[in-house]
Amino acid sequence: MSFDIATVRADFPILSRQVNNRPLVYLDSGASAQKPRQVIDAVARAYEGEYANVHRGLHFLSNLATENYERVRAIIARFLNAPHEDEVIFTSGSTEGINLVSYGWAAPRMGAGDEIVLSVLEHHANIVPWHFLRERQGVVLKWVEPEPDGSLPPEKVLAAVGPKTRLVAVTHMSNVTGTIVDVGAIARGTHVPVLADGSQAAVHMPVDLAALGVDFYCITGHKLYGPSGSGAMWIRRDRQAEMRPFLGGGDMIRTVTRDSVDYTDPPLRFEAGTPGIVNQIGLGAALEYLMDLGMDNIAAHERGLRDYARDRLRSLNWLQVQGDAPGKGAIFSMTMQGAHAHDLSTILDKRGIAVRAGSHCAMPLMEFFGITASARASFAMYNTTAEVDALVEGLTFCRDLFA
Ligand SMILES: Cc1ncc(COP(=O)(O)O)c(C=O)c1O
Repeated sequence: MSFDIATVRADFPILSRQVNNRPLVYLDSGASAQKPRQVIDAVARAYEGEYANVHRGLHFLSNLATENYERVRAIIARFLNAPHEDEVIFTSGSTEGINLVSYGWAAPRMGAGDEIVLSVLEHHANIVPWHFLRERQGVVLKWVEPEPDGSLPPEKVLAAVGPKTRLVAVTHMSNVTGTIVDVGAIARGTHVPVLADGSQAAVHMPVDLAALGVDFYCITGHKLYGPSGSGAMWIRRDRQAEMRPFLGGGDMIRTVTRDSVDYTDPPLRFEAGTPGIVNQIGLGAALEYLMDLGMDNIAAHERGLRDYARDRLRSLNWLQVQGDAPGKGAIFSMTMQGAHAHDLSTILDKRGIAVRAGSHCAMPLMEFFGITASARASFAMYNTTAEVDALVEGLTFCRDLFA
């Protein structure tokens, strides 16, 4: 399928609504993306005629739901070019995925003085689970700062790896600056296991796990045009073998007695309890939709948006944009002298333009840039250059108001 922006937009019912009597300009997809009809229909179909609990029943609906749900593991593996589908662990999102690795893989094998290398670009989801290990086990967090333009050279990350480093945990794309990190070069440059946070990257570019060579890679469904509460952590088989289960309960055991428990094989070993059945089915529909459009086509469209937005925003000499790494994604974090980010967001909202304001769950990065908050415009495959123009007009209106 080729990429036709009008056809894509028509697939997203919400994009035709008005907000504050203006056409919606949705520039907050970095927080959560809107859903195409294909996902909404898949979710409705699953609840309307194909719903039951999975893995347990011998009845028709349970078997059908299990089939629909388990099919998504293969879809995720195909989407990420993962070597084996049993390496895909279903999660409720990246936060759960990174906590799974922290509790299941890192905690049992790290002690006082062991080091985890992190970048200052990270989202709190890829910081706080490691702080737990610092607080509870004396693990040392070693921070790598980006360059002033927000880029993160792999050599800089590798230079922080030492004999006590047990893990490198780094984002594949910053949710604040759009910086794309060459996580493949990091993985190739060290024998230390690498966790890559693909929450943003997987939405905007093709990901090839077979080539990247990382050990852990997470995605979160709600940013991938799927339901909230869906997602996956891909964990290479050898790393899975080193893990202890995270959550305990039904579905992850082979036998339980009064005195013992025998765990079932991965991936179910790491998926205790009734999962987000329909959420994951919706994610499967979203990923099939993306693969039909072609991730290369989506990336090309978004590069056009990025270049256009970058040029237009650069021409506003009263606006500061944090980070401008070469090859970055179409995410722009912005501040304006004399106007708080929350005011910018509120005024833009009056014009139907949705942007996010705050620290974007990236306080260390805010501190690096010397700010406490910014307004963030994050573009997605359904955005247009006309919407960039609307943003620029809105920002200019704000500037006039605060001048
Ligand atoms: C880079 C990055 N990592 C992790 C997360 C956390 O994802 P979730 O809240 O879906 O678990 C986000 C969400 O904003 C993100 O942008």
